[in-house]
Amino acid sequence: MIVNTELENKGNLFPSKIINFRKDVDTLYFTAENDVVLQMRIVRDSVLRFRYTTTGTFENDFSYAITKYASTGYNHLAIEEDEEKYIVTTSKLICHIAKTNMRIQLYDAKDNTLVNEDELGFHWEESYEYGGNIVKMSKTVNERESYFGLGDKPDHLNLKGKRFQNWVTDSYAYGKHTDPIYKAIPFYTGLHHNKAYGIFFDNTFRSYFDFAQERRNVTSFWAQGGEMNYYFIYGPQMQDVVESYTDLTGKPHQLPPLWALGYHQCKWSYYPESNVKEVTQKFRDLKIPCDAIYLDIDYMDGFRCFTWNKNHFPDPKRMVKELADDGFKTVAIIDPGIKIDKDYDVFKEALDKDYFCKRADGPYMKGKVWPGECYFPDFTKPEVRDWWSGLFKELIEDVGIKGVWNDMNEPAVMEVPNKTFPDDVRHDYDGNPCSHRKAHNVYGMQMARATYQGLKKFNYPKRPFVITRAAYSGTQRYTSTWTGDNVATWEHLWIANVQAQRMSMSGFSFVGSDIGGFAEQPQGELFTRWIQLGIFHPFCRVHSSGDHGDQEPWAFDEDVTDVVRKFVELRYQLLPYLYTAFWNLVDHGTPLLKSLVMFDQEDHQTHYRTDEFVFGDKILVCPIQEPNSKGRRMYIPRGKWYNFWTDELVEGGKEKWVDAEIDSMPIFVQEGAIIPKYPVQQYVGEKEIDEVTLDVYYKEGKERSQLFDDAHDGYDYTKGRYSLRTFKLTGKPNELIIQQHKEGKFEAKYEKFRLNLHGLPFEIKEIQLDNVTVSLTDVKAATTGAMIVDKDFSEIHIIG
Ligand code: GLC
Repeated sequence: MIVNTELENKGNLFPSKIINFRKDVDTLYFTAENDVVLQMRIVRDSVLRFRYTTTGTFENDFSYAITKYASTGYNHLAIEEDEEKYIVTTSKLICHIAKTNMRIQLYDAKDNTLVNEDELGFHWEESYEYGGNIVKMSKTVNERESYFGLGDKPDHLNLKGKRFQNWVTDSYAYGKHTDPIYKAIPFYTGLHHNKAYGIFFDNTFRSYFDFAQERRNVTSFWAQGGEMNYYFIYGPQMQDVVESYTDLTGKPHQLPPLWALGYHQCKWSYYPESNVKEVTQKFRDLKIPCDAIYLDIDYMDGFRCFTWNKNHFPDPKRMVKELADDGFKTVAIIDPGIKIDKDYDVFKEALDKDYFCKRADGPYMKGKVWPGECYFPDFTKPEVRDWWSGLFKELIEDVGIKGVWNDMNEPAVMEVPNKTFPDDVRHDYDGNPCSHRKAHNVYGMQMARATYQGLKKFNYPKRPFVITRAAYSGTQRYTSTWTGDNVATWEHLWIANVQAQRMSMSGFSFVGSDIGGFAEQPQGELFTRWIQLGIFHPFCRVHSSGDHGDQEPWAFDEDVTDVVRKFVELRYQLLPYLYTAFWNLVDHGTPLLKSLVMFDQEDHQTHYRTDEFVFGDKILVCPIQEPNSKGRRMYIPRGKWYNFWTDELVEGGKEKWVDAEIDSMPIFVQEGAIIPKYPVQQYVGEKEIDEVTLDVYYKEGKERSQLFDDAHDGYDYTKGRYSLRTFKLTGKPNELIIQQHKEGKFEAKYEKFRLNLHGLPFEIKEIQLDNVTVSLTDVKAATTGAMIVDKDFSEIHIIG
């Protein structure tokens, strides 16, 4: 019997007394009398890895999650001992390891406060059914401790008082509290006494996290096999924790092409070709910006991956080219199940090469998916990934598909109770052969990785765009993701909001939901409110199951179309702001969405909020989540914020009613921010950008903003051909100074910035541009009162 609760069993075993200590460069080994070994690695001053074996020897050290680019190295390491404990000190942490039972205590090295402490610490139970151990860890809950993270859980943002499971699962029409669903990201952040730390349990078996549910003062996690192997990541800022976790498990390997940040339209399914064309044409006719159009499973011949239904799509290459000429990038779905069909070359090749997964006793893993009975490639085998990536040659290089959508990669199997492979299926696991119990959670990740490799190769020198449904920690290196088969209900709008924030604080920012809901049909009002939220999600796609009716922006009434247009236009205006945030993600691992708790962890009011979030680093958003609303109450974080629509300046640190009729939503801009904007385009690259707007929000004090730019695709930016402009704003009662510092070798085509000044508390008497006084009429745009300045200014001094 496999225990589902940490305490359920009575057979817990524990480490005994430490009898040996050994140090090997950055790794410390503590051996107990009963052969338990704790291997503790100093990854960085603020990151420690704890790994335990119960047999004296460790497994081969292999992880799909940890990237080879993870930073390592520390400034300080001292090891002491007294009668009771070993004391390991880095410049950030002090770790006590108790000699009698290996229990750990972790302190902030600066002020000696206790950050995290083992309760029972490492313990285990022998798994008589499968062999190996059920490995467990329990920690004491601190006073007023809160917990965040764990991927896509459709539950309250603060995880305290709840238990969750990690086992990626196809979850059609899941609901609030359904667990587990599509992703397994065994990483959480704990927060108490204004200090945040993270725990990443890098174990791919089915795992559980209990946040003070089973026992009020204990948080525990355990897995049904493998090793107790976790990273302790110290902040003390929550954002630092997430950035360090992202450093360990990887930032996206490259920026997305800018078009991927545009609006995407999808449905199951647009076919035949004439239907695809009708939809795309309508976007252009109605002037609703759109960059990507999707082909769901019906483009294929009998759902055979890498084939086309020639009745519906007689000449895919021509169609894709015509769509591209009109600014549409075509994204096609590819699932893992390969139809059993001896006349199908992909099937034949994989069979010949022995690339399909097999059951423990030899037969192939056979399961039903859309094409009927299928076999499934073992994506955990490097050769298979290589082969798979090669299959994209025609689709990408020849047909011109720009993005690939990997679905059903949990892997989903139909008509079986567990919805996936049986446990006994064998996997290569990159040369560490194992059963599906261990490989299940990474199967989809490895498929997305192989797909990414194919796109990267065949789309070169353009950047790849991949989207996946299943994911394990680290998948963010290769692909974007969506939250799976949601439902057109108001509750799901709430869920989408929480999931996107949670994914962002779980190191996977490039995320969005099926806007409007996948299952069932939204009313126009719900669709509109969901679009308003969706334009602030990094991945912005409308998708729905065609069975339930149409879900294009014009499928409701004209008012809906108009409001949708208005918000999609706003998305396109904000592209340079979002792109800059993406650069920060790719460069530093900075999450794109910041829940209020991450934005201001010291304000306890933020610890239980779910609705409000910061998009990028300066725009505060709060979706309307109820029908018939004329506005809502929301919490405005500390500091001063401008109402985006009215420029009214509000003081945060409290709840406030904010008006938001159906054509509006609560959006605020942090004072001192400089928000870059593009003109509205129908698709990325439609217009030559000849001027970038900078919306400047006055603040008395200082603030820093950035604008990243490059060619919007390709890899030149990695060779220095980017431009990073840092704006320093300094506001005084009668002055506003904006200084600009530029780095990088990229020269954008535009020459001018258009500055819109918001909230200036004085009348402009004088303007100095790079120390030269200029006449007001020289810089003021005729009608709007904006200032037009050369983009390479060093300093603008506005005097009242
Ligand atoms: C799954 C996907 C959904 C897709 C459908 C058909 O349900 O989650 O997005 O449209 O399969 O391919």
